[in-house]
Amino acid sequence: MTQTLTVPTSLEWHEDYLLILNQQKLPNIVEYIKLTSIEEYYDAIITLKVRGAPAIGLTAAYGLAQSACQYEVKTLEEFIDLFQREKKYLAASRPTAVNLVWALNRLEKVLEKVSSVNEAKTNLLHAAIQLHAEDEAVCRLIGENGLSVLKDKQIVMTICNAGSIATSKYGTALAPFHLGREKGKAFQVYACETRPVLQGARLTAWELQQSGVDVTLITDSMAAHTMKEKGVEAVIVGADRISANGDTANKIGTSMLSILCKHFNIPFYVAAPSSTFDLSSLDGNDIPIEERNREEITTIDGTVIAPENVHVYNPAFDVTPHELITGIITEKGILYPRFEESIQQNIGIKQ
Ligand code: MRU
Repeated sequence: MTQTLTVPTSLEWHEDYLLILNQQKLPNIVEYIKLTSIEEYYDAIITLKVRGAPAIGLTAAYGLAQSACQYEVKTLEEFIDLFQREKKYLAASRPTAVNLVWALNRLEKVLEKVSSVNEAKTNLLHAAIQLHAEDEAVCRLIGENGLSVLKDKQIVMTICNAGSIATSKYGTALAPFHLGREKGKAFQVYACETRPVLQGARLTAWELQQSGVDVTLITDSMAAHTMKEKGVEAVIVGADRISANGDTANKIGTSMLSILCKHFNIPFYVAAPSSTFDLSSLDGNDIPIEERNREEITTIDGTVIAPENVHVYNPAFDVTPHELITGIITEKGILYPRFEESIQQNIGIKQ
């Protein structure tokens, strides 16, 4: 039986502002906030009000385009100079998700073909809107392709939130679950809570509930036990950056799941759009790993849970080595080892 989809979305462009779902406040408060200035866009990204690699890229693209529309300059040269400075500013907000720089580069390309300030403003905004529409189509294809590999699997584990609210719609790793609902396929999803900032508990559990998907929350340290006791049949995760050899950066804790999958002989899939591939990074050693502030670990919801002055190490991402990945589900199809070759053939040189 097919169902009507109720997938939550997180980004909505209005004529002169971007409305975002404030992911910091979920699941207790469902609040949409307006972004209008470049500083507000930067703040929304760095404080995780908006997060997830594709959603970060789209937000930055809208931010740069919107800000550029407000430049009061006379010459195209001055316009481009200001654009470059703001592009650099936004690009520095989060270092690991390559979709951020990818989206900003797509905007920059627009400027190669304009001959006036007004034309630049119009075309930049169109480019951001087009990126948004493209991402939705891409995520839907990832969902379809994901369903084709998960068709005989029912019990699936995931980590972090690579869902609709991390993209324009549907998500990457969560897309097969949303589309599965639409097509009458019922998954049983185990969501790892994802310490330290609980994207699994606060966001994935909420998003899948909204969409009517059967979701069970576990803490990250329950993953091995759950795989064994509940008969997990596949793990599917998102990605922030994939190197030319298939090494994949994703939320901290992902590589731990890949190692467990090897032990239990469970297939481990990465789901990502081609905008997440960075062919200039040859392997995972080339991927910059964001380190975030100590309070994410020493406090929970403002309450201190660790001794004052304890040393803290807070990497936000880890790298799953390509040899632990069964397949990478993209909008262009499913890539299998040898990844160096399948990535080169299917993703090739990025636009
Ligand atoms: O720090 P976050 O919440 O931005 O990390 C997000 C992830 O690691 C996601 O899995 C990844 O960006 C893919 S989102 C489709």
